[in-house]
Amino acid sequence: MSDLGFIVGSAFSNLELEIMSRSPTKTPFGVPSSPVLEVVIDDCRVPCILRHGENAQIPPHMINYRANLWALWEHGVRQCLGLSAVGTMDQGFAPGELAVPEQIIDYTWGRDHTFSDGNTELKHVDFTSPFDDSFRASILEAAKVSDCLIRGGVYGVTQGPRLETASEIDRLERDGCTMVGMTGMPEAGLAREIGMKYAICAMAVNYAAGRGNEGASIHDQFKQYIPQAVQQLLKLLSCLIPNLYKNY
Ligand code: HPA
Repeated sequence: MSDLGFIVGSAFSNLELEIMSRSPTKTPFGVPSSPVLEVVIDDCRVPCILRHGENAQIPPHMINYRANLWALWEHGVRQCLGLSAVGTMDQGFAPGELAVPEQIIDYTWGRDHTFSDGNTELKHVDFTSPFDDSFRASILEAAKVSDCLIRGGVYGVTQGPRLETASEIDRLERDGCTMVGMTGMPEAGLAREIGMKYAICAMAVNYAAGRGNEGASIHDQFKQYIPQAVQQLLKLLSCLIPNLYKNY
């Protein structure tokens, strides 16, 4: 075992993970999106939670992010990789490619975004760098070794479940976002609160609304680009996971 765990987005259903065990878990914050599944990747057993549920039925604004993080923590996870599909508005980050963003901007609202309940000592967690630098460095190193192209960038988190308007994407871009997804927050913030190292491996599955020039609908782009991005991801993971286990 290592202390690595995953939160897996719905676009990754074709990773076809081999499940060794499933531990249904209740937390003080309710039930997580799925049992904690122990999956085998490159002969390593890794606990993971399916962010949108086992039938991919939970929309981004209804995910119990607190229960997901808590359940993984209780399973010994201290380093969590969030696998997330995003739309891209960065000309250097094409659909089908991967990124480990270094920054995040939160546009979500109304989600249970903190473990702070007014009954414990008030703590303002430092979130200057929302992702763990050493964990990001391990991912970038694995990308180099596995000859996998991987970008950085700024992840804008929108509320969903609808996709954005072209003007909303213009605004995100003016703010400095280079990619857009719906689940990076409060996941990253909660991981920081609980003391878990956290990073996102984002896979671009479409050009953000109003971007790209192929005239393909966003849903057609999902179909076109997800398999390519998943191939990249598998290549990356088969280097990253054994490295993390070896160094544990
Ligand atoms: N917007 C928001 N979330 C997403 C997108 C998008 O274009 N693609 C995948 N997740």
